[in-house]
Amino acid sequence: MGERLLFSYCMPTKIHFGVGQARDLSAHLAAEGLGPSLFLVADPGVVRAGLVDSIERALQDDGYQIERFTTIAENPRESDCQLGAEACAKFGAEAVVAIGGGSTMDTAKAIALLSRTPGSIEAFAGGHLPYEDVLPVVCVPTTAGTGSEVTRSAVITDDRSHRKYTLKDARLRPVLAVLDPLLTVTAPAGVSAATGVDALVHAIEGYTCKQASPIVRAFGAAAMRLIVPWLPRVMADPQNMEARTHMLEASLLAGLCFGSADVAAVHCLAEALGSVYDTPHGVANSIFLPHVLAFNAPAAPELHAEVSRLMGFASDSSATEEAVEAMISALPKWTAELAIPRLCDLGYVQVDDFDQLAKLAMENNSTPSNVRDIREEDYRKILDATYAY
Ligand SMILES: [Fe+2]
Repeated sequence: MGERLLFSYCMPTKIHFGVGQARDLSAHLAAEGLGPSLFLVADPGVVRAGLVDSIERALQDDGYQIERFTTIAENPRESDCQLGAEACAKFGAEAVVAIGGGSTMDTAKAIALLSRTPGSIEAFAGGHLPYEDVLPVVCVPTTAGTGSEVTRSAVITDDRSHRKYTLKDARLRPVLAVLDPLLTVTAPAGVSAATGVDALVHAIEGYTCKQASPIVRAFGAAAMRLIVPWLPRVMADPQNMEARTHMLEASLLAGLCFGSADVAAVHCLAEALGSVYDTPHGVANSIFLPHVLAFNAPAAPELHAEVSRLMGFASDSSATEEAVEAMISALPKWTAELAIPRLCDLGYVQVDDFDQLAKLAMENNSTPSNVRDIREEDYRKILDATYAY
């Protein structure tokens, strides 16, 4: 095995992490030579929570010119990105700054691309158009989950076909990420829970997928160790800054994990569900996680036992099979305590749609990355098992 070890890892994003870091955004932008014209992509919920006005005012006081864009969907839509790209190009922005969660950051990445290299999302994702020119992207995350602040990808839904496409290119990776745990305190409970589980799935899928490397696994292991104990603490006490800090740290580490490897079958199913029903991404991931792990574990039992031990669901001395079983039975209880619904609780999910969902999952670019080879009929069986749970 050792002599076949082969990997690359590149992480050019400048990262600033810490309570109060968002107040220094202007200095961080200046240090990177970004601006003075900034296209500010901000989540409307985050604007309502009062987080954006003060940051924008501070930037304007320091001489930055700002155009604000807030048309962002839960699952980002191509039509919004095209609209934003037009406005961004017209404004003559020199950088795109995202303040928000994963949807905001992904929308900002698509705007940064489309404003300089026009085309359809489908054409870029399908490899028919080159990512020639992309404006620099700066991310200020307000949720602890997506890790998009350090990844090279953005998931965008084509509104006409309802298909989700993944834009993926090194030029989409943010040049600067400013992570301030203070900005995550106002996230609603449901958002904190779902995005936190999304981060856990990033760590698990990055750690177990076919592209995993020792670097990726080091980041994934650190993220898993943090999320399982600290996410319930965030839910119990949303103002707990220690818990909020550990979750933002964990989502960053999980981003550094999967961002240079891939996600896998959990995300393929979650993105299919999100594209058909607009289910929040983290909720969809949480729903499928134990069922995909049960499918994957037989192909790599010791790897999955390791994952269980890292999450604290089994002791270091536990046997392989025992550790895997402990994880698969503990995960649904852990997510139920976070008040995340099951598939059958969602109400709008139709069993008649399962063939279509399985097909969409199969077509996802990340399907080949899954640790166990997976076919469309396997996805269908996982959907049935998840629904029956
Ligand atoms: Fe995700």
